[in-house]
Formats: sequence, structure tokens, C-alpha cells
Amino acid sequence: MTHHGITPGDRPFERLAVVGAGNMGSGIAQKMATEGFSVTLVDLDDEKVARGLGIIEKTLNDGVARGIFGAADAAAILARVTGTSRFDDLGNVDLVVEAVFEDLAIKKSVFHRLDEVCRPDSILATNTSSYAVTELASATTRPERVVGLHYFYHPAKNRLVEVVSGQATDPAAYPRAWRLQEALGKTPIASSDSYGFIVNRFFLPWLTEAVRMLEEGVAGTATIDEAAKKAFGIGMGPFELMNVTGVPIALHAATTLGRAFGPMYEAPALLRAQVESGTPWEVSGTPDAGPFQTVGDRLATAACYVAAALVDERVGTIEDTDIGARVGLRWRRGPFELMNHYGVERARNLVAAFAARWDLPLPATLERQARAGQPFRFTVVRSEIDDGVATLTINRPDAMNALNEDVVAQLEDAFQGAAGNPAVKGIIIAGSGKAFLAGADIRFFVRHIEAGAVDPIARFTERGQALLRAFETCPKPVVARLHGLALGGGVELALACHTIVATPKASLAFPETGIGIYPGLGGTQRTPRRIGPGLAKWLILSGQTIGAEEALSIGLVDRVVAYEQLDAAIREIIAAGRAAVREPRPAPDSHRSIASFFDRHGVDELLGGQATLPVDPKLAKSVKRVGTKAPVALRLSAELIDRAMEVSIEQGLALELSHLREIFATKDAYEGLSSLGRKAPVFVGK
Ligand SMILES: NC(=O)c1ccc[n+]([C@@H]2O[C@H](COP(=O)([O-])OP(=O)(O)OC[C@H]3O[C@@H](n4cnc5c(N)ncnc54)[C@H](O)[C@@H]3O)[C@@H](O)[C@H]2O)c1
Repeated sequence: MTHHGITPGDRPFERLAVVGAGNMGSGIAQKMATEGFSVTLVDLDDEKVARGLGIIEKTLNDGVARGIFGAADAAAILARVTGTSRFDDLGNVDLVVEAVFEDLAIKKSVFHRLDEVCRPDSILATNTSSYAVTELASATTRPERVVGLHYFYHPAKNRLVEVVSGQATDPAAYPRAWRLQEALGKTPIASSDSYGFIVNRFFLPWLTEAVRMLEEGVAGTATIDEAAKKAFGIGMGPFELMNVTGVPIALHAATTLGRAFGPMYEAPALLRAQVESGTPWEVSGTPDAGPFQTVGDRLATAACYVAAALVDERVGTIEDTDIGARVGLRWRRGPFELMNHYGVERARNLVAAFAARWDLPLPATLERQARAGQPFRFTVVRSEIDDGVATLTINRPDAMNALNEDVVAQLEDAFQGAAGNPAVKGIIIAGSGKAFLAGADIRFFVRHIEAGAVDPIARFTERGQALLRAFETCPKPVVARLHGLALGGGVELALACHTIVATPKASLAFPETGIGIYPGLGGTQRTPRRIGPGLAKWLILSGQTIGAEEALSIGLVDRVVAYEQLDAAIREIIAAGRAAVREPRPAPDSHRSIASFFDRHGVDELLGGQATLPVDPKLAKSVKRVGTKAPVALRLSAELIDRAMEVSIEQGLALELSHLREIFATKDAYEGLSSLGRKAPVFVGK
């Protein structure tokens, strides 16, 4: 099992295809088209193809009705999908996902056919839930280019995908498939080619444990569902979920897992009987809170046992297991976080009792942790060295890689290691999943403000500043790999790197003044040093989001390249050596009036309406936005940006730190931070 190692020089993905236009296939094709790819969608005959296209159209129309995208966008997405019943149309695709019926013979015949018609270098992927990728690959003459891409329902909405390496999968094909998932805005996790991969392996025993509790009379369906919703923070309990996805699917999956891993995984008799009855589970009545604790604990224990066992077997990592649970199943906590929540000793006792019931050994992963008496520690920064280049990837995809104490501590270690390693020529700072890095962990700020302690926030920021300063002063080239959204601390992290390379999908913004604070990780200092004080004020005071091309035009990023060329471009930059520190670049024609407007007008003029509103509509909009921000944060930001032009970077960073306690002690900081994601803040100016 490998994570995405970096191979330079990939050709871009242009044409993608999906075979099987059913529930999964149509959704996968829809997602590909939504992200801008041309997709060929194949099914057995024209009628089935039309049905698949109809599913996409309906889902898109629902999206339009709910205001997720415009009618024109929906039409453009649909226009990128071409339906066909001829496999011969797949001659020029870069990657195909097979999503036909879950039937081994049919799947093998599809792979045989794909192998005949597809270009020799195209990647063939399977969305199978229960067969081995290796087995399907054996139906082709190119098993090295066959991978598993296991999506979750609904594949245009659920971000999780398990990327599975078969026994013969080439170490170059795997990262290529992995990176396509990132380009599609998916959250990939790495699984070995083992039945049920990571998520279904523990999800099925979670479902069957629910059925067993019903069988044993521990509680009724409504009670079990309600207990599960509470314990896992989910919208549907196990019985309602089985009714929605189909009870026979649960039986089928449990049967496959039972065959592979033994009796604990097998379907309970009651599940079998329910399928035979041909009816869904009856879920009605008032839940009884009495057994909630027991039910929640039993469900959690089953999942925790399996999670620890699959990590023992190296099917996946603890991080990917938890990401799988949170992103794929929308659990509040993954199994390993659950074990930490219980306390590892208690978790061990619960899991040991469960294992004993089935005559299974206690998984070593949990045993070791409980013996050490330490909670599981998650690797939130992955460090990979490949061909003299170290890539440090922040790996909290479902939190958009937000900075917290763990991330900063692990980045410190990883960066020190890479900087001090004579075999490393350059360092890449990257984020996993859809975003590059969306700021800092706001809950951490809120928690400390509520506890009346601003000191930990100041210390955290100081530590972050020192880390970023280490990037900046590193004699080796340090490059930010901006493949997606960068907000606040993410932009600041990138600005501390010597070079910022972005993809067209990257976007940048400083939302701080809108949540009552100012950028404290060098944002008020490094932004004006790059693009001048006028444009720095524009971005920081208005919170305006800008795309990669615009950022390039004003000098906020250094290069924009296609996603597939990102890593090759970064390697070239590293090979050329560390970029020189640049002088602020004058604003380009397109932004001259914005720069001079923000240069000329102070915050109080902007807020007091003394500044005549500019004619340029874009500028007028930005100025209006300034009026919605927190006044103290605006004033401090403007002051710090002005000072940046007069002092050294060290002095400027120290100044930025010196106002932290002041800003975090304001009413507006608490209002802004605690309102985030809930309501529009109401600022009072103190
Ligand atoms: N439904 C889920 O929640 C889910 C989740 C993850 C993975 N999967 C897997 O995805 C795959 C598809 O599942 P689904 O739920 O979309 O099934 P589905 O029955 O809705 O769709 C399957 C489609 O494949 C087509 N098909 C069958 N044989 C074909 C062939 N030889 N060539 C071309 N098309 C063919 C069928 O006409 C049908 O339209 C299965 O392997 C399943 O295990 C399903």
C-alpha cells in the first residue's frame, strides 16, 4: 500500500469514461463532468444509456432547484457526458471506471473487453464492493494498470473514495489514479486489496451488531436507530440505512465478508430472514432511552474491534480508517477517535470482551496502545521523500487541513527533518483532499476565549510564526503546492514559502477581519511585501476571494499550471534552486485603481463613508464588504500593513504578535469566531 508518491511528467487527464450507467456509474460520471472532464458513459443498450443520462439530469435539476448551481452550469455539466452503448468508443480515454452489476463473470468480461479497446496506457478502475481488484485485473493483459476506485453512494455528493492497489498495480499508475481523485475534489484514502477494503469491513459488522441486538431482545429497531444516531452523530440509524440502501445488499456484503474473515462477520439469521421476507425493516414506535448507552457501546465496540484488526493486517492506517468513517459514513468520530474518547484502557476492555465472544484474539494495535496507556496519535502531517524532494502533506482533509496544535507540532518535526537531511534538495508543502489549507482551527480559539485564556492562542500563533519563519529562512527551496482553496493561515503558510505554484482551481482569501481578528501568521507583513500595501489592504480588509489567475496577475502566486503538471513544475523549480526574495511588484493595470484607492483611504474613511464610492463596480463591491468587517480588526490590519513597509520582517512579525492579546480580547473577536458557520456576526467595534 502506498500513498501518492510523486511522479513527474504525467500527461493530463482529458477523457474519462464510466461503464455501467446505474446508480453508482451515473453519479460518478456526473461528478467527473462537474469537475470539468469529458466523460463517456457506457451501458448495454441505448435505453439503459438514456436511463443513466436521465438520472444525471434529474440530480442536476434537483441541484438547480436547491440553488447549488445555475441552470446554465447544469446544462454545461450534462453536455460533457456522452452516452454510448459501444465499447469501441473508449479507444481514446485516459481512465475508465467500471461500475456494472456486482457479478464476477460480468465484471471480468467487461475488463477483458476494456483491455481490448482502451489505449495501452489508459488506467482501468473498478468500483467493486466485494471482489478482489487483483482478480479483476487478471482478466486483462495490463494488470499493472488496474486499480480499485471504491466510491460511496451518492458518488457525486459523498467525497470519500478508497483507492485500492491490486497485487500487480504499477507504482506509477496508483498515484496517477490517486491524483485524479484529488482533482475531482474527492477525499481519497489508501486501502490494500482486502475484502470490504477499509470502510465496509467495519461498517458491516456495525450493521450486523445492530441486527444481533434486535435478535437478542436488547432493544427494538427504533431504539437502536435512535441510540446509533446519538452515539455516532448520524442522520440515520442502521435499520433505516439498510431500508434505504436495500436489505439484500447488507446480506450480500456480510456473506462475502463472512466467507473471507469468519463467523463474526457472517450475517445473523434474522438478517437472512428479513431478506427472505422481501420486506424492509419495520422501524416505528417511540425509542426507549434506557438501553441507549448499551446499544451505542456495542455498536462502537464492533467497529473498534474491526478497525484495530484491519490496521493489524495493514489494510489501512488509523488515519485513513477514521477519515473513512467521518467522510464516507459521516460519523462524528472515527473508530480510533472513539477509542480515545472511551480511553484506550476501557476500549481495550470492551473490545476484549467482544473478541472473546467470538473466540478472536485482541488486535495488537489496541493491545499495544492500552499497555502504553496513551491515546492513539494521528499523523496529521505526512512526510515523503522521493528523488531528493521532501513532500510534507497536511492530512486533515475533512477539516480542510486547518492548522491546530498537532499540525503545527508535526510540521515542525517534519520540516526540521527535511531541512536537516542532506539527501533533501527541496521541500514541498501540500494539503490533502480538496483544499490546500483553510485557516486555523476556530474551535480552538473559541474554547480558549470562553475559558478566559488568550495566552494559549498567543503561544500557538507565536509557534506558528516561528515555523513559517523557518520555511522562509531555509537555505533549500521551499515550495507551496496550492492545488485548491487557501484561506487565512493557508495563504500565510504559502506566503512563507519561497515559491507558490497553483492550479487553476486554487483560490485565496483572508477571511480574518470578517471573524473579528487579523491575519497573525505574517499575513499583514508578507502580503504587502509581495504585492504592495494597497493590494494587501484590499485583500485583508475586504476579505475578497481571488482565483489563481488573478493571484498570478498581481504577483500573489508565482505560477499557475494544470493539476497533472503541478508536481513536475514544482520539481523543476526546486531543481533551479531557491527563488530570490522579491521586491513588491507594482499593481498591474487591471488592479491599479484598486491599489491606489486602498492606498489613499484610511479605515475610518472607508467605514465612515467619507471615501467617495469608486465607479469601478468591482472596487465598489470590495469597499462595501469592508463595511461588514470588525472595525478593530480592520484598524489593526491597516496599521500593521503600513508598518510592514518601514520595518524588517522580524520586527514586523513581532509587531503582529504584539497586538494578539488585544484583538482576541475584543467582544468582536468572540462574536466573529463563535458565529462562524452559524450566523452573520454583529460587530460592535470593541
Ligand atoms: N450502490 C452502492 O451503494 C454501491 C457503493 C459502492 C460500490 N458499488 C458497486 O458499484 C457497482 C454498480 O452498482 P450500482 O448500484 O450502480 O448497480 P446498478 O444495478 O444500479 O447499475 C449497474 C449498471 O450496469 C449496467 N451493466 C450491466 N452489465 C453491463 C455490461 N456488461 N456493460 C455495460 N453495462 C453493464 C446495467 O445495465 C446497469 O445500468 C457494483 O459493483 C457495486 O458493488 C455500489
